[in-house]
Amino acid sequence: ASAPTLFQPLRVRGLELHNRFVVSPMCQYSADDGHLTDWHFAHLAQFMIRGAALTIVEATAVTPNGRITPQDSGLWQDSQTAPLKRIVDFAHSQGQKIGIQLAHAGRKASTVAPWLVPKGHTSAVASKEHGGWEDNVWAPSAIKYAEGYATPKEMSRDDIAAFVQAWKDATRRSVEAGVDCIEIHGAHGYLLTEFLSPLSNQRTDKYGGSFENRTRLLFQTIEAVRSVIPESMPLFLRISATEWMEHESSPSWTIEDSIRLAKLLPAAGVDLLDVSSGANSANQKINLHRYYQVNLAGQIREKLQKDGLKLLIGAVGMISNAEMARSIVQEGKDASAEGTGAATHDTVEVAEESGQVTQADLVLVARQLLREPGFPLRVAHQLGVEVKWPNQYHRGGWSRNAKI
Ligand code: FNR
Repeated sequence: ASAPTLFQPLRVRGLELHNRFVVSPMCQYSADDGHLTDWHFAHLAQFMIRGAALTIVEATAVTPNGRITPQDSGLWQDSQTAPLKRIVDFAHSQGQKIGIQLAHAGRKASTVAPWLVPKGHTSAVASKEHGGWEDNVWAPSAIKYAEGYATPKEMSRDDIAAFVQAWKDATRRSVEAGVDCIEIHGAHGYLLTEFLSPLSNQRTDKYGGSFENRTRLLFQTIEAVRSVIPESMPLFLRISATEWMEHESSPSWTIEDSIRLAKLLPAAGVDLLDVSSGANSANQKINLHRYYQVNLAGQIREKLQKDGLKLLIGAVGMISNAEMARSIVQEGKDASAEGTGAATHDTVEVAEESGQVTQADLVLVARQLLREPGFPLRVAHQLGVEVKWPNQYHRGGWSRNAKI
């Protein structure tokens, strides 16, 4: 029998992924004035040598005020390219692919790293003494996210122009560093999400109001990025497919908006939609279950396929075992999970909660890789797929008799 889709290659423009495992971007709050450090090298390298097809470098700020914390990475000046290139070169020396997520934190900028938040609070503003910039936090409207965040200033037209130019410059630096793809961070309540959502965007100019106006800055950003990357380089976009605010009467960004947006993305030059959710409102209500987010990916993929539109879909969120990872991307007739040693319980969940077989073209994994950097290798073993380990680890592979 052929390998499960999870371990089959996927070509996106000029990028050949050897399987469907992607390391989701993960902020480390460990940069030095925006420069990646040895921590990032060690953190990212452990995934690059353990089986994923693509590693995406953490949310990297396009302007200094687009950092979540003063310790976030950035690409707003040329000196920040070299430490990124060092990591990219290592990835390529291992035959690995590497992408970068570019971002602007908008009204969620200038906070302290999570481990510095005082007990009993969810966030805290980084004051000037702590390297913060609470008087220069950008947002579409002067509406604060929640307690523990700065009150943002409404972006002027000049700020918007500077923002778009900063995306171009940071993308150019990413290309100079040699990355294989770019992901635009349009999720989690950061600046681009804030423009999409009528809850955070109350502008009356051409950037606020209608769906077309609220998505304008996103499309300008996509255009800016696409204009400086090679034709052969894939462009990914991460969005929050819903902000989980349907329980409130005010209009919010919903899955229907995401489907409408997704249909416009192939023509704009986006190759893959990375489907996340939430984090633009402190009042969000999530009915949490293992597939709560993966199902959003599945819904969008199904609608696009019906319309014959070609947009790859990435699923993310709570993917932490072999059967879940396998079944999300499995194409064609879903082979039974029998003999894989995987939990059949999850197969039942897929059937009952999603009602469809293929929900995405690839899976992005974050927390399971923190728990277990060799997760993709373990999954391969559980699914009976032979994968190459680094030469240096030739004695370490899962043997046929290895107990897991
Ligand atoms: C994240 N996440 C995240 N998302 C993103 O788009 N950009 C980022 O830089 C980060 N940073 C980050 C850091 C850490 C330590 C974690 C745990 C998470 C979210 C992450 O990419 C992923 O979408 C979620 O964690 C859900 O996936 P898992 O963890 O359930 O596999």
